[in-house]
Amino acid sequence: MTDKTTTAKAHTNIAFIKYWGKKDKTLNLPTTSSLSLTLNEFYTETMVTAGTEDTLLINNMMQDPTRIHNFLDFLREEIEDFGPLTVVSKNTVPTAAGLASSASSFAALTAAVARHQNWDLSLTDLSRLARRGSGSATRSFFPGFAVWHEGTDNQSSFAEALPATDLPIALVVCEITGTVKKVSSSDGMMRAMTSPKYSEWVEKSHAQFTAMQEAIANQNLQKIGELAEENALAMHELNITATDRRFTYFNQMTLDVLAFVKELRSEGFLAYATIDAGPNVKIITSQDQAETIKDKLQEKFRKLCLQIATPGPGISFED
Ligand code: PMV
Repeated sequence: MTDKTTTAKAHTNIAFIKYWGKKDKTLNLPTTSSLSLTLNEFYTETMVTAGTEDTLLINNMMQDPTRIHNFLDFLREEIEDFGPLTVVSKNTVPTAAGLASSASSFAALTAAVARHQNWDLSLTDLSRLARRGSGSATRSFFPGFAVWHEGTDNQSSFAEALPATDLPIALVVCEITGTVKKVSSSDGMMRAMTSPKYSEWVEKSHAQFTAMQEAIANQNLQKIGELAEENALAMHELNITATDRRFTYFNQMTLDVLAFVKELRSEGFLAYATIDAGPNVKIITSQDQAETIKDKLQEKFRKLCLQIATPGPGISFED
């Protein structure tokens, strides 16, 4: 056992074209390619060091290590065996905000272990490995916009960064807490795939994935927003039309904020919504409109917890 510690920092990402379904559960291959924006304001910093058994601490609290233990065992088998690890994470992703904390967590963990074990792996290799922990983690190694190619096997399902852009994009993150029973993303996807609209969504998503890359290359913020909102709302429609235990992540506040986003648009603001596996709404806008939109939302919904997020960096190390 050595005293060596390795720390990696990964920022979370929000998908503008969503991953919502698996075509291979073991390899965690998605039914569609997805595209996301890495966020500057929310990240996970993970430190690994040799220990006596796999343990996990998040923000100084001991956690059930089962999920990361299984993931570490996967790495032990896939790459090379190593001893038990103590994993200490600091998470700035508000867990109640419905932001993908599993994205930054599994990206940071994968990177920290690889560095700790001196594995010579590219970011693409790391993204393939992190995919097995959490699909959205695949995209969290890269700055700004990233795409996760669905692929047809382990090798071809990986993420990469899109060319850098100085697009002045911002997200207004609306933290809505609710009493809605949480359905895990894996369970949610399984149910969504039973919707009669599922194959139509997949087909549409393929076209939107291409159109979104074009809109980003053209710095067309409005088109980016339109496509993201359309893709996200259609994803949530799958949940309510599922034939196996249909459900929704939305609550009344989600619907109220969505209606307000429409209102903002009719007033001439650039504002489009995207929603993940929870009730919270992220409003896509421009950096110069974000503060005003945040103020307007706060005035209308006093209890809403709001934060502005901007494009963030890729993975980094500290040792
Ligand atoms: O990474 P997972 O398995 O928690 O799934 C994430 C699913 C969404 O956040 C809803 C969409 C996405 O592409 O991130």
